Amino acid sequence: MGTTTKKSSKIRRMTAADINIVKELARELFKDEWSQETWLTEINNNISYYSVLEINNEIVGYAGYWLVAGEAQIIRIAVASKLQGRGLGNLLVSDMIERAMSQGALAVSLEVRESNIAARKVYEKNGFVESGIRPNYYQDNNENAVIMWLKTEQG
Ligand SMILES: CC(C)(COP(=O)(O)OP(=O)(O)OC[C@H]1O[C@@H](n2cnc3c(N)ncnc32)[C@H](O)[C@@H]1OP(=O)(O)O)[C@@H](O)C(=O)NCCC(=O)NCCS
Repeated sequence: MGTTTKKSSKIRRMTAADINIVKELARELFKDEWSQETWLTEINNNISYYSVLEINNEIVGYAGYWLVAGEAQIIRIAVASKLQGRGLGNLLVSDMIERAMSQGALAVSLEVRESNIAARKVYEKNGFVESGIRPNYYQDNNENAVIMWLKTEQG
């Protein structure tokens, strides 16, 4: 599939050449960021799709999902902290939904930390509905996960 362009930003598929920059971006955002090996496995996995968001050819965000049996599961989404709150997370989520549906997804699900208000807002804005809680899901601080779903008319 091609790239998505909006204003000065562009969303395209992540490649192995992007991993170092993506890892740098992730280091400031996640406690459990992945190794080079994990990233390589993830982007070469034929059930996954990872994209990067570029502004003026600089990677400022990324996102990814797995698609299994008509159901997409969002794995990660991130926007560089200096650029958060400007609608870029929203762009990445809506692009993922569009791609997953064009690949046959009938529903999209995800788990998000209960305290992650920014992420929950972005998902809600894109039509996701909270459907339950997984208690003590995150091992680092025993935080609950909120389960969210987006279903199409067929899903
Ligand atoms: C989650 C994340 C990707 C959101 O990206 P973003 O570019 O800041 O989001 P947007 O600017 O598109 O915001 C979308 C909506 O969420 C709201 N929002 C964003 N940050 C918020 C915050 N801290 N508190 C409350 N609402 C917030 C915005 O107001 C906006 O809603 P609106 O258009 O109705 O005002 C970003 O915060 C991030 O990278 N966080 C760290 C990584 C992470 O936690 N990822 C999710 C789990 S994998």
